[in-house]
Amino acid sequence: TNVHADAFVFFGASGDLARKQIFPALHAMVAAGELDVPVVGVAHSGWTVDDLRDRAKESCLENGMKDDADLKKLLKLLDYVDGDYKDAGTFDALKKALKGASRPTHYLAIPPSLFGTVIDGLRGTGLHKDARVIVEKPFGRDLASAGKLDELVDRAFPEDAIFRIDHYLGKDEIMNLLYFRFANSIFEPVWNRDHIDHIEITVAEDFGVQGRGAFYESAGALRDVVENHIFQVVALLGMEPPSYQGYEAVQQAKESVFRAMRPLAREDLVRGQFDGYKDEEGVAADSDVETFAAVRLYIDSWRWSGVPWLLRTGKKLAVTAGEVVVFFKRPPQVLFEDAEADKTPNYLRFRLSPISEIALAARVKTPGQEFTGTQQEFVLHTESPLERAPYERLLSDAMKGDKALFTSRGSVEAAWRVVNDVLTDHAAALPYAPGTWGPKAADALAADWGGWREPVDDKEIAGSP
Ligand code: BG6
Repeated sequence: TNVHADAFVFFGASGDLARKQIFPALHAMVAAGELDVPVVGVAHSGWTVDDLRDRAKESCLENGMKDDADLKKLLKLLDYVDGDYKDAGTFDALKKALKGASRPTHYLAIPPSLFGTVIDGLRGTGLHKDARVIVEKPFGRDLASAGKLDELVDRAFPEDAIFRIDHYLGKDEIMNLLYFRFANSIFEPVWNRDHIDHIEITVAEDFGVQGRGAFYESAGALRDVVENHIFQVVALLGMEPPSYQGYEAVQQAKESVFRAMRPLAREDLVRGQFDGYKDEEGVAADSDVETFAAVRLYIDSWRWSGVPWLLRTGKKLAVTAGEVVVFFKRPPQVLFEDAEADKTPNYLRFRLSPISEIALAARVKTPGQEFTGTQQEFVLHTESPLERAPYERLLSDAMKGDKALFTSRGSVEAAWRVVNDVLTDHAAALPYAPGTWGPKAADALAADWGGWREPVDDKEIAGSP
């Protein structure tokens, strides 16, 4: 099954995703010697192949890549097909552009509402045979629509050939969560409800929706980040040790976590919307879409029973930061006249951006006569971000047929099940001022566990780009 694809096709070639992620990834793949097959962009923009090449070049330069031999090679590989996805002629033209390639990988970098049309078009010309398909998150809008999408995709592609992207899984710092947990023996014995008090995960951004208002209106923070990126982090931290080596074991273990997540109730969620969001282009004047979400999640399993996972994400927040903090229980008895020891529990901190860092915080005695000390962080690992960006890795893996870093159908479905009720049954989004940590009500959600820990801003971290 792991046969290399012999062509790369991307629908939505004139769109935002192509500009931001696909062209730079393709450039990097060429540079790594991993892309030497026809690359065909498809869109309905009245473009020519030269327009596509211009866009590709622009996009690569915007992303800090050089106008070098690799870029020239990429431009040469590129071809373009213009046409309506409803039109069979578009797919005939695509077939011609593929020049006899028989195992293409099709990337649907388009809104899910167009998936059905494109998939039917591919089937109509037989371009689905021996092909793979890559789809983006969010996969559907809720449990029911995700099920319908599955049916659509199933019409043409077996599960083996479906690659669902969650770009977090392509990040090195996220892969390290899995590695760090199971390549070491010292943490596993304490990795449970007996020793862990609670876990906090923050994915904060100090910027707004950056012109993606129309997209954001159909998503919101819960769909955009919580139920995919953050839940993936929860799954990696919460999973049982995979019982054998390889992709299936990891997928199964993660899926079990998704299935054990308790469906969120109204009171487990605080939604917020930054002041000014309604003035963004593409946003409804009376929009109730949340640009901030704070969630208290429970995993109903022996390992995690009673341990809250406090999750939050949002736009226009106080800082930009991606961080996980695993808080351990306090010592059962206070032996030292060191009142502070009561307040700050030990923790393990995983910094996800802009560097990858793992630190363990523990108390140590201050030199001198007194039995007092301070909590100090011991940095176990600190690393600048890899040049190999997530999309390069994921697209390369899909071309190779390696599914390890993609999400399974069962996980996607189970994740929707967790949020499905609160997607509609929720309190109105509370306003918050840009540059803050969201609405005050979010603090209450974490109050019983000492409140949210304040992560430092990406910009204050040495090595940030
Ligand atoms: C995307 C969301 O999936 O993830 C964006 O659509 C968000 O809204 C982004 O900004 C965050 O990803 P990263 O890699 O910048 O942490």
